[in-house]
Order: sequence, then structure tokens, then C-alpha cells
Amino acid sequence: TAKLPPRTQALVDSCFPSQNQALTIYQWKHNKRPTRLQLLEMVKGANGILCMLTDKIDLELIEAAGPQLKIVSTMSVGYDHINITLLSSRNILVGNTPGVLTNATADIASLLVLTASRRAKEGLDAVVNRKWGSWDPNWLLGAEFTGKTLGIVGLGRIGAATAARLIPFGFSKILYSGSKPHSRTEQLLSNIAMAVSSFNNSYSPCDSSFSINFVPTDTLFSDSDVVVLCCALNDATHHLVNCSNISLFKHGAILVNPARGPIVNPEALLAGLCSGRIFAAGLDVTHIEPLTSDHPLALHPRCFILPHLGSATIQTREAMSDLALANLASGLLGKKLYHQVSA
Ligand code: GLV
Ligand code: GLV
Repeated sequence: TAKLPPRTQALVDSCFPSQNQALTIYQWKHNKRPTRLQLLEMVKGANGILCMLTDKIDLELIEAAGPQLKIVSTMSVGYDHINITLLSSRNILVGNTPGVLTNATADIASLLVLTASRRAKEGLDAVVNRKWGSWDPNWLLGAEFTGKTLGIVGLGRIGAATAARLIPFGFSKILYSGSKPHSRTEQLLSNIAMAVSSFNNSYSPCDSSFSINFVPTDTLFSDSDVVVLCCALNDATHHLVNCSNISLFKHGAILVNPARGPIVNPEALLAGLCSGRIFAAGLDVTHIEPLTSDHPLALHPRCFILPHLGSATIQTREAMSDLALANLASGLLGKKLYHQVSA
């Protein structure tokens, strides 16, 4: 039974106004994640579970918990670690934390686009390993974005916020794919492009055309200079980038994945990087996490990898944990969740 930090205790008190006595909280307090066995032991008899994206919520786990389990609240926007169909068939609610991590994650996505395009990994390596010679007009030349096409797979919250950040870098065309067109987001992004072009024109008149179009994913791959994957991982997006379609990419394309590792087949990406079809990649997620430092992708000079830091700011992690706790409390009290995932 946990003594909660004051901020969390205050939130629990506000969620459970008078029912504090009846509430027992078990909190995993160690820095190291629980082992599977520890997790299975800990959930026994729980009415609610607050989990992380590293906790697999499957048949074994919910049977270990028992039939009284009402709610699983994940401190993440992604829920590919949860068997949603199964939980829904047993009337177990699932809550997640969209919205509060959108800006932090879009920041990381944009950072990956910039670092990959401008060869930051090779540059840093040169500084650290004394390979920085004199300034050279032909050294470590990267790509920039003026007049280029940005492809966003999944124009949800994070995809839209990433596009909004990247438009001012000069993209003149956005292609996006996904389950359906988003006309309001298209309009909002066009407004940003218009403001940016009026800003640019006040310094030097330039071609300020901008377009945004919903296209099939294959068209997005073949026509984009920079591709950012902002979709959820599910059966339809597993290995969305694979050995047969990597050859569709524009020669010299940049591929960025701030979403989930298994959306990209690692062999396909490696082959793309080695052939030069993929000029550079930026990943915040990998097919296995943690990726070992001797993995060919980790060693590739044009593959810039961060260790799943998308939502890793103090502000965002506090908001995520508050929201996850509020979802958990709502589920336990039979109230509507702030954000419910449905099958
Ligand atoms: C992070 O990857 C999340 O899904 O919140
Ligand atoms: C992801 O972008 C979401 O819709 O939360």
C-alpha cells in the first residue's frame, strides 16, 4: 500500500471524495519495471490497473487479476500493448492519455526530421571523435525543405501538430494518408501555410503555393521527400514500411518514426539506407526496445535514434499520470472516462 506523493494524493482525494477509506492502492515503487511474474502477482484481485506501455495486458494478465477487474488505464496514448478486443468482450474499460502528449511528441518528431536531414549524428560523431577538419563546402551536406513535399501517415493529433511545426520550414506540399480525410485539419494547416508565406513574402517575394491532399499510402511513399509515421500500431500498420514498398520511396527520401517500432520492418529500412534510397532516418522507436548498440541500425551513420522520448518532458509526464489516474478513478467509480479506448 503506497504513500503517494502529495500531488498525486491530492488528485486521488479529489477523485474519490469520501470513499478514501475503501480505497487500497498498490504502487510499484522501484525504478526497474516489474518482471512479468511480479506483475501477474501484483494485479491479483485488483479492480483497476494503471499500466505503462511496457506492460502487456493480455488474457493471462486479466485472468491473473480476476473477474472483478473493471478498468485498465494506460499512461500512454498508444494501446497496442493491450488486447482491446478481449477486454471489451469482458466489459473491462480501457483508458489512455491522448492530447496531453501531443506537443511534446510533435516536438520530437520535428527534431528527428531536422537531425536526420541535416546529418546531426555524423556531425556530432566528427566533433566527438576528432574528425572535424577545416570548414569544407562539400562536407556533410544534408537536405532542406523549401518547395519539398511532406508526407504524414496518420493526420491525427500528433500528425497534425507535427505538420503545423514543419510547414514554416518551407514545405510547399503535404500529402497525408490514413483511414479518412480530415478537412478541418487541412484548412487549419493551409491557414498556417498562408501566414508563413505572407511572412516570407514581406522579406523576399517567392512562390508561395501550398497544397494538402489525402492520398493512398503508396502514393504518399512515392511522392514525399520526408515521410513521418504518426499512425497507431495495429494489424493494418504492422510493417507498413516493408521490403516490397521501400523501393517506392523517392530516391533520397527521409523517413521518421516517432510512433511505434514495428510499423517499420528494420531489414527494409536498413536496405533502404544502404542503397541510398532512404537518405536518412530518424527513429524515436524501434522494432525491439531497447535496441542494442551493436544493431546495424544503431551503427548506421544516417540513422539517428532516440530511446522512445516522445512524451518525455516533466510537464507532459505529469499531465499523463494525472489523466491516467483520473481515468482509473472514473472507471472504478462507474463514471465516464476522460478518454476511453473502444474496440
Ligand atoms: C508513447 O509512446 C505513448 O504511446 O504514449
Ligand atoms: C494520436 O495522434 C492521437 O490521436 O492521440
